Amino acid sequence: MSGLDGKIVAITGASSGIGAATATELAARGAAVVLGARRTDRLEELVARIREKGGRAEMLAVDVTRRADLVDLVELAVDRFGRLDVLVSNAGIARTAPVASLDLDDWDAMIDVNVRGVLHGIAAALPVFRSQGRGHFVTTISTSGLKIVPSQAVYAGTKNAVRTLLEALRQESTDGVLRTTSVSPGFVRTELVDYVEDPEQREQIQQRMAELGISPDAVARAIAFAIEQPDDVEIGDITIRPTRQN
Ligand SMILES: NC(=O)c1ccc[n+]([C@@H]2O[C@H](COP(=O)([O-])OP(=O)(O)OC[C@H]3O[C@@H](n4cnc5c(N)ncnc54)[C@H](OP(=O)(O)O)[C@@H]3O)[C@@H](O)[C@H]2O)c1
Repeated sequence: MSGLDGKIVAITGASSGIGAATATELAARGAAVVLGARRTDRLEELVARIREKGGRAEMLAVDVTRRADLVDLVELAVDRFGRLDVLVSNAGIARTAPVASLDLDDWDAMIDVNVRGVLHGIAAALPVFRSQGRGHFVTTISTSGLKIVPSQAVYAGTKNAVRTLLEALRQESTDGVLRTTSVSPGFVRTELVDYVEDPEQREQIQQRMAELGISPDAVARAIAFAIEQPDDVEIGDITIRPTRQN
C-alpha cells in the first residue's frame, strides 16, 4: 500500500500548530484522520472544517499522559474505519528554562507529555499494528535534540529520549511490519512557546519564532511524504528547519 488516499491516521496534539496542519494536509489528500488533544472545542472546529471539504475525520478528548486515552484513540480508529495505519505522536510541550531554575514541576510535565505520552501511544498501537501485519509510528521530536543550546536541557532531553526509543524500536522491528519516522522541526510558528513561564524568556522565544519560524504546513508536508511511501520504504529521520536557522 502506498500513497495517502485511504490511509487511517491517528494524530495526537491535533488541536493546534503542527498537529492541526498535519490533520488538514492528510485529510485533504484522502486520509481518514482520528484526532486527539485536550482542547475539544478546537478539535470540533477542525473536524467540521475537514468534513465541510469532503474529508473524513473523527475526534476524541485525549490527554497523552493517561494510558487509557491512547487506547481509546486507537480503538476509535479501528471501530470507525476498520484499522489504524499510522499513529502520529505529535503532542508536546516546551517549558524552557536553565537547569538552575529547578522548575521540577515543568520537568515532570515535559517528561510526562513528551516521553510517557509517546510510550503510551506505542503501547496502544503496537498490538494493533502487529495483528494487522503493518503499521507506522511517526513522532514529532525537535532540532533541540540535535543542536544543544542553553535553556532547553530537559526539553531536548525528552526529545532525544524519543529519538533513541524510535531507533531501538526500528532495530527490533526489521521483519517488515513496522515503520518508524522521527521528524525534527526547527522553529515553526505555533503556540508551543506561549506557555513558557518566565515572561522575558517567553517574549524572547516568541520573537525569534515570529522572525524565523516556518509554517506548520511545511512540517505537515514532510509527515505526508514519510507516510505516502510504499510499505517497504521507511523514511527514518527528517530534519526540517527554516533556511536561516543556525
Ligand atoms: N513549534 C516549534 O518550533 C517546534 C519545533 C520542534 C518540535 N516541535 C514539536 O512539535 C510538536 C507540536 O507542537 P506545536 O509546535 O505544534 O505546538 P502547539 O501549537 O502548542 O501544539 C501542541 C499540541 O500538543 C497538545 N498537547 C499538549 N499537552 C498535551 C497532553 N497532555 N495531551 C494531549 N495533547 C497535548 C496540544 O493540545 P491540547 O493543549 O489541546 O491538549 C496541542 O495540540 C510538539 O511535540 C513540539 O515539541 C515544535
